[in-house]
Amino acid sequence: MKGKAQRSKTKLGLPVVILICSLFFLAGFFFSTLLSQGVPRVRPRLRGLELVEEEEEEAGEGLLPHGETGEALVNAIPFQVLSWQPRALYFPNFATAKQCDTIVEIAKANLKPSLLALRKGETTESTKGTRTSSGTFVSASEDETGVLDLIERKIARATMLPRTHGEAFNVLRYELGQKYDSHYDAFNPTEYGPQQSQRVASFLLYLSNVEEGGETMFPFENGSNIGIGYDYRKCIGLKVKPRQGDGLLFYSVFPNGTIDRTSLHGSCPVINGEKWVATKWIRDQEQVD
Ligand SMILES: *[C@@H]1O[C@H](CO)[C@@H](O)[C@H](O)[C@H]1NC(C)=O
Ligand SMILES: *[C@@H]1O[C@H](CO)[C@@H](O)[C@H](O)[C@H]1NC(C)=O
Repeated sequence: MKGKAQRSKTKLGLPVVILICSLFFLAGFFFSTLLSQGVPRVRPRLRGLELVEEEEEEAGEGLLPHGETGEALVNAIPFQVLSWQPRALYFPNFATAKQCDTIVEIAKANLKPSLLALRKGETTESTKGTRTSSGTFVSASEDETGVLDLIERKIARATMLPRTHGEAFNVLRYELGQKYDSHYDAFNPTEYGPQQSQRVASFLLYLSNVEEGGETMFPFENGSNIGIGYDYRKCIGLKVKPRQGDGLLFYSVFPNGTIDRTSLHGSCPVINGEKWVATKWIRDQEQVD
């Protein structure tokens, strides 16, 4: 191998050597530009968290021997408890901006007006205007880029609810004025009839920033506004402003399986900009698809 390289070197003339050197220079320049483009995306307020993450990875001594299905890593997935009523967690920087953009591109090709699960007595006509977004279902196995696979695994780690319990990703786009009136993700059998399985948790990954509006709202947070004839179209209560790459997890049922009334939620109308979000509904039974 070495000899071969030397032989070919002797044949190279000066112009070729200069050309090769310039190519290396250009490649280096290209990659350094890529790196510097990534820099402004790092949010200053997360500096501290990133340091903690690095420290944890380096301090590998405390690692335990893991089981067959465990991992040889200590994962740092920062989260903030937003509320206990409903049980809601916020995951800053859960995905990178690039991963979010990739998911949006995948979804764009298949967007259709979003549908509703109808209650007894409801019709498509009677529920018109409740949910005005466009969306599509994409499963991780359909995504050749592997981004959805990565996100799905991270969601499973963060929730410790196995991937097999998740429905396909529902990617939604809300344009100006579009919203989703308050609703439950869980299906109450008295309204929807007997259920094969129940949605226990929902993970929302915000794929875009929204200049104004588009918050995820929990009108019954902490038990407020229950039983006062709340107008389901009103944007009140705990509001979560979408930020690209951040994740929101909330549980629709209590540990005993009863539906948590405070998990009622909706999407406030987008006032300025466009909202993209990927939702993963997680069930109490394995999903066969
Ligand atoms: C909300 O929670 C706080 C703190 O636990 C409590 O003092 C307050 O009464 C609650 N409000 C409602 C409307 O439930
Ligand atoms: C289930 O848990 C909730 C919250 O802890 C509680 O309020 C409710 O009474 C429980 N329901 C049953 C049927 O045990």
